[in-house]
Amino acid sequence: MVGPYHRRVDPVSNADQRSTQRLHVGVTAAMVMRLAGEEAAHTDAGRTFVSQLDTGAGRVMAEHVAEHWPHARMHFILRKWQFWTWMNAIAVNTPAVGRQVVVLGAGWSAMGVDWAHHCVEARVWEVDLHHLAEKERLVRRLFPVAADRMRMIEADLSNLSTLLSGLRAKGWHADRPTLWVAEGLAYYLAPDRFAALMRAALTFHPSNRAVIEFGLAYHLMRESIRARTAAYHGYLATQTGLTNLHSFDPSVFCLQSGALPLSWADPSSMELARNGRALMFTSPDDSGMRMAVLGPA
Ligand SMILES: C[S@@+](CC[C@H](N)C(=O)[O-])C[C@H]1O[C@@H](n2cnc3c(N)ncnc32)[C@H](O)[C@@H]1O
Repeated sequence: MVGPYHRRVDPVSNADQRSTQRLHVGVTAAMVMRLAGEEAAHTDAGRTFVSQLDTGAGRVMAEHVAEHWPHARMHFILRKWQFWTWMNAIAVNTPAVGRQVVVLGAGWSAMGVDWAHHCVEARVWEVDLHHLAEKERLVRRLFPVAADRMRMIEADLSNLSTLLSGLRAKGWHADRPTLWVAEGLAYYLAPDRFAALMRAALTFHPSNRAVIEFGLAYHLMRESIRARTAAYHGYLATQTGLTNLHSFDPSVFCLQSGALPLSWADPSSMELARNGRALMFTSPDDSGMRMAVLGPA
């Protein structure tokens, strides 16, 4: 994929520089980190990891988005909070699921680092198209012990057989329960590809769970939210060149993936659960962002 996650990443020229320079993060990931601030990570280790990244490429975008779409910033904060809350709930209810975690489209997110520190019995596999070799070097330098609990795989998630063979080659056990995590990924895979990925992810064990976040199909949004979302996506396109962010009709997605939604959340429910009151999103209709916990049907 040609796009925002790797466009402005400067290559590191030698091993010395690698150990001292902060790694440059692509524009969109950098923008998200700047807007999420402290909430971009859940543990001290995760925050240390983020502090080692150079998010300068996202400064202008972060300022523009904060000014024009304050909802976007709150989306990032709420979705990170909801992922972590659900992951913990799943791991408490079924500890074995929390011990094998696959972070799909991990990018520069601190999620894997957080989980490897939070749950010392866990093994974490991070998968993305790009940058995971650099990320792995940084994680190993910062956290040599936790790094042994993590494996990075550069693979295209639209190719299931490559993904599964990559995971197996790096020690993932298909016959053990697995928690699959997909934050910010669904926008970049065609809905039928994402559904196929979820179908495969949930197939291997009856306790498998997936925690996902996605955007509602435009026709399911009310007019004002559709206009706001379209303007935001249009702005992202001008900055990244990515013109086709995918969105979902959840009923079609469930039919295609065969996944059973076990929990749903929208920003109003998240705001209420996290803050005790919903201020920015007072009803589900106030946002096109959705999250779900999926299990095998
Ligand atoms: C919006 S970013 C989200 C990154 C991270 N999960 C987070 O929330 O910060 C989307 C990520 O999906 C990755 N991605 C997109 N399409 C992919 C594909 N076909 N295979 C693997 N990774 C992909 C991108 O490289 C990028 O890192």
